Amino acid sequence: MAVQMAPSILSADFARLADEAAAVSPVADWLHVDVMDNHFVPNLTIGLPVVESLLKHTSLPLDCHLMIGEPDRWAAGYAEAGARNVTVHAEAVRSPVRTLRAIRAAGARAGLAISPGTAVEPYEDLLGELDMLLVMTVEPGFGHQQFLDLVLPKVRRARALVSRHGGSVWVQVDGGVGEETIERCAEAGADVFVAGSAVYESGDPAAVVQALRAQAERATARAPWSR
Ligand code: DX5
Ligand code: ZN
Repeated sequence: MAVQMAPSILSADFARLADEAAAVSPVADWLHVDVMDNHFVPNLTIGLPVVESLLKHTSLPLDCHLMIGEPDRWAAGYAEAGARNVTVHAEAVRSPVRTLRAIRAAGARAGLAISPGTAVEPYEDLLGELDMLLVMTVEPGFGHQQFLDLVLPKVRRARALVSRHGGSVWVQVDGGVGEETIERCAEAGADVFVAGSAVYESGDPAAVVQALRAQAERATARAPWSR
């Protein structure tokens, strides 16, 4: 199981996004882009025009995490623009099968995110429509929140469901992931790690990504799920 690192630009300098992407592009697998509309979450970030511009200035694949009220309407547009992964929230999507298929039809990987209070089991039948399951480890909306340990049993259950399903669905964690928490996430079954403040509020974003990756790889190697 390969560990993948997805630094989140939510904690980057939004006026220097191309430079902030370049700072991690030699060491990251993805650039995680948090799209918030002030409806699904009480915060407002960026939308499709900024994603389109960013695509012209980075070679990193974009992992767009849509925290918006109408993902059915907008998700495919991010894939058509060139995002390589588009994740929609289970709590917001009205027609998950149609929307996940539209993302894939537009050439991107399709992700489904679940907030801390949302159970994973109801989505088992959708695993065939998914490339990634995002288990939020904070309430979505803001960077720099405290990691919620209460979500770890759900990460374990998500990994078990994905293993039983037999497909190659990735399990992503997002929120409060850093030096203190990434090993617990990897041990529980995550293989894609979003980190915002831990990376961009440090003096050396690339070094932090590398250090976090090394921690996650060590923890994965000793995790029962990875054997
Ligand atoms: C929060 C976002 C995260 C955010 C994580 O809703 O989805 O991607 O950037 O930030 P940290 O790593 O600071 O918790
Ligand atoms: Zn995110």
